[in-house]
Amino acid sequence: MPALLDFARDVRDGLGKAGQKELPSKYLYDEIGTALFEAITLLPEYGLTRADERLLRRYAPAILEHLPPPVVVAELGSGSGRKTRWLLEALAHREPVAYFPVDTSPAALANCRKELSGMGALSIVGLETSYLDGLREVASRRRTGQALLVLFLGSTVGNFERPAAEQFLREIRQGLAPGDALLLGTDLEKPVADLLQAYDDPAGVTAAFNLNLLARINRELGGDFSLRDFAHEARYNDRERRIEMHLRSRKKQTITVRAAGFAGTLEEGETIWTEACHKYRTDEIPGMARRAGYLCESQWVDGEWPFAENLWIAAPP
Ligand code: AVJ
Repeated sequence: MPALLDFARDVRDGLGKAGQKELPSKYLYDEIGTALFEAITLLPEYGLTRADERLLRRYAPAILEHLPPPVVVAELGSGSGRKTRWLLEALAHREPVAYFPVDTSPAALANCRKELSGMGALSIVGLETSYLDGLREVASRRRTGQALLVLFLGSTVGNFERPAAEQFLREIRQGLAPGDALLLGTDLEKPVADLLQAYDDPAGVTAAFNLNLLARINRELGGDFSLRDFAHEARYNDRERRIEMHLRSRKKQTITVRAAGFAGTLEEGETIWTEACHKYRTDEIPGMARRAGYLCESQWVDGEWPFAENLWIAAPP
């Protein structure tokens, strides 16, 4: 199905919900949203991306020690490629590298290619498709004897509800052979005040990132959202151990989204839930690995901003 029809259907379903209205977080990342997220990663309050990059820079050689050559690399959600560079450089030191960034966003793939250009002994083949389809494509191209290293960095896994995350990691496992590896980045629990600052920064960049989703619906689907009538909200859900981003309606209002065939009312104070960012404890991760068909071989934790890189090895079935 064309992407715009998927978007229209998801908007109609999400805004038409009887209880909590919601919009899938993957739609936050159009070209503007991707640029705003890149700005978020530079904010002093948002330590996540810097922690991820510090760990990869510092521990790339240690991580690669667990992975005998030859290794092919696939990255789910290519991001900007900035932090991946450290790993690819260390790997290119010992062998020529084939790197397959997988992302549905052409803007993200282009940034990634730009960031990594000029690195010797590296071939980049971007795959503009869903994570699982991209992974299947990479698996079909690998030669016998090559191990696959899948990168799922930046705590993107945190966008899934916990059971859905395990299901997704199990689906990744189905595209792997025993001995293949998954490097999983997970943001860890930390003081709630720090998290609320990180997801509701005083400069309002995260607010703009969140509100852009409504602007995108206006642009692409003929919506009539007035952005000034919504407020960005970040809350910590204690029971689920996650940050939730919402857009709160400042007044009672009627919304129509022409190309989604949607018309409906929002009450004053009612919210649209746009993203979940789950936080983890290091000691729950080996169990997640086991249930999804892997062995958690090693974990590296940042000392400044609690965040973990977890190296999982695909277990025999
Ligand atoms: C890209 C999903 C890891 O959850 O922290 C940042 C997205 N949302 N600020 C996160 C995000 C608001 C981010 N991830």
